[in-house]
Amino acid sequence: MAVLVYLMTIMAAAMASAASGAELTADYYIETCPHALTTIKVLVGAAILREPRMGASLVRLHFHDCFVNGCDGSILLDDTDDMIGEKTAKPNNNSVRGYDVIDTIKSAVNTVCLGNVVSCADIVAVAARDSIVALGGTSYDVLLGRRDATTASIDDANNDIPTPFMDLPALQANFESHGLSLHDLVVLSGGHTLGYSRCAFFRSRLYNESDTLDPAYAASLDERCPLAGDDDELSSLDDTPTTVDTDYYQGLINGRALLHSDQQLYQGDAGDLVKYYADNPAKFWEDFGAAMVKMGNLSPLTGDDGEVRENCRLVNQE
Ligand code: HEM
Ligand SMILES: *[C@@H]1O[C@H](CO)[C@@H](O)[C@H](O)[C@H]1NC(C)=O
Ligand SMILES: *[C@@H]1O[C@H](CO)[C@@H](O)[C@H](O)[C@H]1NC(C)=O
Repeated sequence: MAVLVYLMTIMAAAMASAASGAELTADYYIETCPHALTTIKVLVGAAILREPRMGASLVRLHFHDCFVNGCDGSILLDDTDDMIGEKTAKPNNNSVRGYDVIDTIKSAVNTVCLGNVVSCADIVAVAARDSIVALGGTSYDVLLGRRDATTASIDDANNDIPTPFMDLPALQANFESHGLSLHDLVVLSGGHTLGYSRCAFFRSRLYNESDTLDPAYAASLDERCPLAGDDDELSSLDDTPTTVDTDYYQGLINGRALLHSDQQLYQGDAGDLVKYYADNPAKFWEDFGAAMVKMGNLSPLTGDDGEVRENCRLVNQE
């Protein structure tokens, strides 16, 4: 009898915390799917081995998910007759990648969990961390228990994701609208230690006399990014696009940031932080992990809100 009362008390407490929108926790799946995290890690590793750039793409996928109504997997939803989702929004169309890798991970995780247990939003958050670790960054605990959105919005994606044409005040205002500070802006922009940009996002800098881009560097880019055409031609965002290091910050100091928005960080208080991280890789790794956790906590759906999607591209059918 005493045991029964005890069990009922525990269950009532568990249900109350679920209903009130429990906080995210690192061990969320420890009982319900103990092999989830190793499964994700192995498949992220395999994807990066196939194509080293995929690590960068998975990190960016998490950023673009979190900045549009919170980290809720909304970016993964395909368009339907009733809804135009985020995939074709300006910052994402022909640009965000990794959807197939997430699909592969999701079906593998559903198999090892013997059911649909791990949310798509959590898979994206863990895949970003595993990419950073696979490419030389320091690990951090991803907090888990996000649920998936049942809707997505192209307009919100167009409005809420910062653009590479922004000046520092606009970047700072955008991050503040997400509850993130100037310091978070500088640290999280360090994500550009990985990956590439399409010519379309930096062309205007190459053919502008008053731009501050290092002239020798600009000249080296001209051929691959002509005044007209070749929108999809890629250049790396720092000198070492498959290594998590502080070359990105060093590049800003040398006037060799590829994106206008990145070069904007090298001024005032933000510029002091750029110099600090350029010289302190260990501090960058540590603070980047903490800032990724903070970004990963943006307005998650918890408790009874949202759902755990069976297929990351589709809202569950009744
Ligand atoms: C601060 C405002 C930011 C702006 C304006 C910005 C803009 C961009 C642009 C224009 C690209 C190139 C995309 C393409 O050509 O298809 C890019 C790539 C990338 N961004 Fe950002 N970004 C910002 C912040 C971040 C943050 C916070 C992260 C992650 C923490 C991040 C991670 C990445 C990565 C990893 C890539 C390379 C993706 C790949 O190669 O597939 N960015 N970003
Ligand atoms: C997205 O890109 C495709 C292929 O380039 C293009 O046809 C389409 O118009 C773009 N969609 C939007 C909404 O810009
Ligand atoms: C050229 O660069 C300057 C300095 O960054 C900027 O003020 C101006 O708007 C740019 N012009 C064009 C056409 O992009």
